[in-house]
Amino acid sequence: MSAMLPSGASLYDRVQRVIPPIEWPTFLDDIDAILELKQQRNAVVLAHNYQTPEIFHCVADIVGDSLALARKAMAVEADVIVLAGVHFMAETAKLLNPEKTVLIPDLKAGCSLADSITAADVRLLRQRYPGVPIITYVNTSVEVKAESDICCTSGNAKVVVESLGVSQVIMLPDEYLAQNIAAQTDVEIIAWKGHCEVHERFTPADIRQLREDHPGVTVLAHPECPPEVVAEADFSGSTAAMSDYVGSQKPPRVVLMTECSMSDNVAVEHPDVEFIRPCNLCPHTKRITLANIRSALEQNRHEVRIEPEIVGRARLAVERMLAL
Ligand code: 13P
Repeated sequence: MSAMLPSGASLYDRVQRVIPPIEWPTFLDDIDAILELKQQRNAVVLAHNYQTPEIFHCVADIVGDSLALARKAMAVEADVIVLAGVHFMAETAKLLNPEKTVLIPDLKAGCSLADSITAADVRLLRQRYPGVPIITYVNTSVEVKAESDICCTSGNAKVVVESLGVSQVIMLPDEYLAQNIAAQTDVEIIAWKGHCEVHERFTPADIRQLREDHPGVTVLAHPECPPEVVAEADFSGSTAAMSDYVGSQKPPRVVLMTECSMSDNVAVEHPDVEFIRPCNLCPHTKRITLANIRSALEQNRHEVRIEPEIVGRARLAVERMLAL
């Protein structure tokens, strides 16, 4: 191994609060191999906030919510991008930086929202609501993006809705995100019935129980949660907004109503905050592991490719969002 590389062993200090010492040695071989492969292949690892801490804090070069990952993917200069996240994030990176080799370590790392709608559904919506702009959440396939006017993420959905200067929009596919944004704007939002399988499981009763069991707890909810959950929370925002909230407000006790690894990753940065951890696991994000990041780099798999005839239209929808 090159003398310039940090060794995996030296990284344990970063994650010792969230990875038990007995587990740590099982990660070391893959961490060392990935650090070396990144140099050999001139590669970077982009990791979403839901990745496990040994990925997020030990091998990732760029981390963030889906908006930040899209913005930063566009500026990557390395030859290879490994997307430690779900498939739509890898497709977005490829759309925005098409010259790069973009790898997703497991092709089955999907998303219930992306699976809830097809390009044909969007074409039907356009026929049914002629002239009404279609805003598509980035948690969709590239084919769906290609049928849309503009994309949004949970971090900019309200700004995107209001940027269009119209009184009615279609926002798909997340029904709850659409309802949560509708509660903050005068623009009428026509929604689709897609749901995130992680966030739809949280209930207002969960929050009331948490407040009873952990007095003074601050509750942060992702806007993919049902509106009744968001209404009972103290704050709602994207994964990056939740992380920023913890950093700026320093609540003594906090619960993040979202995917489980998020608390671990934020807790690493904030030893003074107590994290209460009822959470829901995302089976798709958990398909990404150190072992398959390593084989992605060793075997150049699975390379994301986008049909040339839809690249232009899908890219335009994402670029319109990023231009705001
Ligand atoms: P963020 O854009 O807030 O990171 O959310 C992405 C996501 O898929 C949440 O389930």
